[in-house]
Amino acid sequence: MYKSKIAGLGYYVPERVVENEELTKLMDTSDEWIRERTGIERRRYAKKHKETSTTMGVEAAKIAIERAGISKNDIDFIVFATLSPDYYFPGCGVLLQRELGITKSECGAIDIRNQCSGFIYGLSVADQFVKTGMYRNVLVVGAEMHSMGLDFSNKGRNITVIFGDGAGAVVVQRNESDSESAILTTKLHSDGTYAEKLSMILPGSHGGYHNDKHDFGVDYGFDYDIPYGEIFITQKMLDEGLYYPQMEGQFVFKLAVQKFPEVIGEALQEVDLQTSDIDLFIPHQANLRISQFVQKRLGLSDDQVYNNIQEYGNTTAASIPIALAEAWENGRVKEGDLVCLASFGSGFTWGSVLIRW
Ligand code: UT7
Repeated sequence: MYKSKIAGLGYYVPERVVENEELTKLMDTSDEWIRERTGIERRRYAKKHKETSTTMGVEAAKIAIERAGISKNDIDFIVFATLSPDYYFPGCGVLLQRELGITKSECGAIDIRNQCSGFIYGLSVADQFVKTGMYRNVLVVGAEMHSMGLDFSNKGRNITVIFGDGAGAVVVQRNESDSESAILTTKLHSDGTYAEKLSMILPGSHGGYHNDKHDFGVDYGFDYDIPYGEIFITQKMLDEGLYYPQMEGQFVFKLAVQKFPEVIGEALQEVDLQTSDIDLFIPHQANLRISQFVQKRLGLSDDQVYNNIQEYGNTTAASIPIALAEAWENGRVKEGDLVCLASFGSGFTWGSVLIRW
């Protein structure tokens, strides 16, 4: 088995800053509510028609590749995590390959659809490929362009105020030096029992199938006589704006604060380390209150935790790589440090990664 390390990392956030105040002009919300409940002060929105999840991912990837000291054609494999892809298919992985100008067709690409845990899952996939010796350099990207698919009416306010756009990327590389740098372990979990509690179920091919067995929490009024070919995108869906994400916030919150400590404890136990050994913990930036709750449960001090949700909101698959790259740029991640990443989100899926930097 080889050792894998993070050889380069970068992030990109769009120029446009959207303050909480701006959202109050579109929906019934307030700066005070958003700050108190989520810690978010502002977020970034991508340029319509000019930027996409892929283009933002490309910008982050260019930085990560340069910092890894390799060239784009040294990338053996691309892992792209997003819930807001440019196209329904094909995935952003191949679009990024094209935009980056990676010309070798031996470079494979996959998309990961694990929402907030997308980057953790992506990192784990990359780690396995590098450890087994199959690939030397795997590019892992997390990118989201939420702004184009949010409900800016009062109905969507619990979700819309949280999300922002951006991208982060890392190059996972075989460590052929004597240094201790390594991804020590990755832990992945899922439980589909509550799949619809945080979901965007339309457009889709189910035609209401799951609704017979599970409570969607929203009356979609599926028409079971609808003909083939018209199930995927229905007129009702368009007329009533049923294609927005939905979330039972408190339900998600309660599970998140339970699963974060569990999955971090599991990773630490495997490599025989303690929470006190963690130099920097970077949680998925879902809600500052979740991060603070988890920090308290783990008994971590403020300088052991990195949060930037205040500036960027929740950028789903991009949130961990953005925070990791920003923390690294700010000198918060140094050689020899034990870095802990963890996430919980839609699916539900959750996971953790321990890295000896
Ligand atoms: O990243 C993926 C994983 N996602 C998460 O981890 C999110 C977890 N959940 C959360 O972060 C929180 O549940 C939210 C921030 C989404 C919501 O906060 P909350 O404290 O759980 O609020 P709530 O949904 O229980 O709603 C409380 C009240 C409601 O009004 P009533 O029924 O008490 O009159 C909502 O209608 O706040 C209202 N509300 C808002 N008010 C102003 C909901 N959204 C807003 C809003 N502005 N944006």
